[in-house]
Amino acid sequence: MEKTEFWSDYAPKRREPTHPVVESFVTGKLNFLSSRISGLEGRSILDVGCGNGRFTYHFPTKNKVGIDFSVEMIKRARQLVRDVPFIVGNGYKLPFRDRSFNVVFAGCYLHNLGDPLQALSEMARVAREYVILVEPNPFAIPIMLFNLFSGEERRNTVFRFTMKYYRDIFSKAGLEMYGTTRGFITPNRTPVWFQPILTYLERLAFITWFGCYFVIIGEKRSSNLYQGISQG
Ligand SMILES: C[S@@+](CC[C@H](N)C(=O)[O-])C[C@H]1O[C@@H](n2cnc3c(N)ncnc32)[C@H](O)[C@@H]1O
Repeated sequence: MEKTEFWSDYAPKRREPTHPVVESFVTGKLNFLSSRISGLEGRSILDVGCGNGRFTYHFPTKNKVGIDFSVEMIKRARQLVRDVPFIVGNGYKLPFRDRSFNVVFAGCYLHNLGDPLQALSEMARVAREYVILVEPNPFAIPIMLFNLFSGEERRNTVFRFTMKYYRDIFSKAGLEMYGTTRGFITPNRTPVWFQPILTYLERLAFITWFGCYFVIIGEKRSSNLYQGISQG
């Protein structure tokens, strides 16, 4: 999954940022993040592995940039999301100075990489305050079924991406971490008719423990702003 051709072929098949299922998937995660990080609207955000701009589009700030190594994905993002700079570039070597963005975000990105720690460390380098990930929970039932029936390469690698694994690499990258699981909507596969039911269930806090996605907030230990991420 580290080949740009794979993602370029995939670009036209992905649902758009304003598709109702995608919108519900993304805003559920962003509402949760806004409840944890005050003033997200005023912060600059870099979206790494931004794809067609699904998250980028919904970030509640004007100060946002998307980057992806697939030319086709970036072309799609530029068509779908106006007034946002989208750049072709590699997540292992981000073309930005240290501490360039308040928040460095990646959605459904890290588990596709051969060296997630290196990519995460690079995100931490260009972040001033937070590194945030949304990643599939490999043991949530719908995600597990998808992984089991996908190709062997994926099956052999994807189950290592547990919360424990993220805790370990966040610590190595110098980030204080808070993680939870949220949501039942899978953005590409959930049928439109099923979305309102899943969105309703997503609001019931106790069920979110079994959520399909990890939402992980890393705070830079070296940040002067470091307060400790609120737990609970
Ligand atoms: C599953 S898609 C997620 C896209 C988007 N974040 C979303 O949630 O819809 C993974 C994206 O990561 C990009 N990607 C994979 N490896 C990358 C790398 N080394 N550098 C930059 N982008 C990469 C792919 O091109 C693809 O667009």
